[in-house]
Amino acid sequence: MIIAIDGTLASGKGTIARRIAAWFGLPYMDTGRLYRATGVAAIKERIDLADGELVAAVASSLDLNDFEEAELRTAEAGVAASKVAALPDVRTALLQLQRDFANQKLGAVLDGRDIGTVVCPDADVKLWIDADVEVRAKRRHLELRKAGDAITLEDLTQQLRERDERDANRKDAPMKKAADAVLIDTTDLTIDAAVDKARAVIEEVM
Ligand code: C5P
Repeated sequence: MIIAIDGTLASGKGTIARRIAAWFGLPYMDTGRLYRATGVAAIKERIDLADGELVAAVASSLDLNDFEEAELRTAEAGVAASKVAALPDVRTALLQLQRDFANQKLGAVLDGRDIGTVVCPDADVKLWIDADVEVRAKRRHLELRKAGDAITLEDLTQQLRERDERDANRKDAPMKKAADAVLIDTTDLTIDAAVDKARAVIEEVM
């Protein structure tokens, strides 16, 4: 059972994916974390975030244990992630790792931007999670403020728009709803209601 959960940033996909994985007892991979860690590591090593070859080398030798969760969750890490995620060599370097995780005996839940289209095009269930950009910005703003980040709501909204645009328009594996993915719009949903919907879709195909 492979469950692919893609969608826009701060749409709730990560929380939904984590709770769905726990509910069905499946291993879970947050694939955005791989791109965040690659971006953060490249910054630490003072590598140009546009240099595909060098950043791909960082991605290939990534050890996720080297990172604090908090440093991966900053707005800066998110921006760096979306920059390095636009580099084809970086995507290639991270692809097999994601596929191997998906192909475990038990199955898996993966969330990201291209799981249903590129990483696991034959996934048993594909969900596409989205919400209005203002609602997403407010949610992420609250999270970042709690973590001590002083970014303003205006700046963050602008940043989300730029990241959505970069993710949706890159040539390689752009963020896109797979034709056979089921849309869950979380604009007016609580997280519990969104998880219930996701669970209902999955139970239908089980
Ligand atoms: O989901 P999260 O915000 O952690 O993802 C950070 C960035 O990583 C995204 O903006 C996107 O550019 C990139 N990403 C991707 N493909 C994935 C997961 C994340 O390109 N499967």
